[in-house]
Amino acid sequence: MGSWQRWLRVGGLSLRGGGACVPLGGSRSVCGRQLSGAENETLEQRRTQIMSRGLPKQKPIEGVKQVIVVASGKGGVGKSTTAVNLALALSANDSSKEIGLLDVDVYGPSIPKMMNLKGNPELSQNNLMKPLLNYGIACMSMGFLVEETAPVVWRGLMVMSAVEKLLRQVL
Ligand SMILES: Nc1ncnc2c1ncn2[C@@H]1O[C@H](COP(=O)(O)OP(=O)(O)OP(=O)(O)O)[C@@H](O)[C@H]1O
Ligand SMILES: [Mg+2]
Repeated sequence: MGSWQRWLRVGGLSLRGGGACVPLGGSRSVCGRQLSGAENETLEQRRTQIMSRGLPKQKPIEGVKQVIVVASGKGGVGKSTTAVNLALALSANDSSKEIGLLDVDVYGPSIPKMMNLKGNPELSQNNLMKPLLNYGIACMSMGFLVEETAPVVWRGLMVMSAVEKLLRQVL
């Protein structure tokens, strides 16, 4: 298989030898080379296959009515500070609402420190983790499950699996 065909198989944006090739773009050429009919068809099939995947399915979190996500593509910009302040403000604003704070930062969880919480969550009878509570906010964080100074190596799907557990295996 030629190198451009490999690019075609992988799809997406490839850069090689200083040139940009966009195999799935609107034009019918790859790296400046016109595609034949069969190649065009393969390209079309690949595009249909990728498009059919669509967006990931939304799964509701049991017992949670509304979710506010605080995220950014950059570190140290104030995500944790904003999340903590939002949780405290929402709780102070309406005491009838139960507010929870989930820290999905598995690389450097800071919510335990910011919410002045320490310790390991207890397990309920049906093996769900009980969140730790302070200032009227129920909190869950990877920081409750690993030692503060212990290094943790996260590989591939382990992160998604940990986030899934923090999201769905909490009381
Ligand atoms: N609005 C703000 N103005 C000035 N400084 C701020 C503001 N919000 C947060 N900070 C400060 O910026 C620093 C980083 O904040 P924070 O830990 O909330 O960021 P983060 O995005 O959660 O970081 P990380 O990506 O490391 O988790 C802290 O020292 C915090 O006190
Ligand atoms: Mg943070």
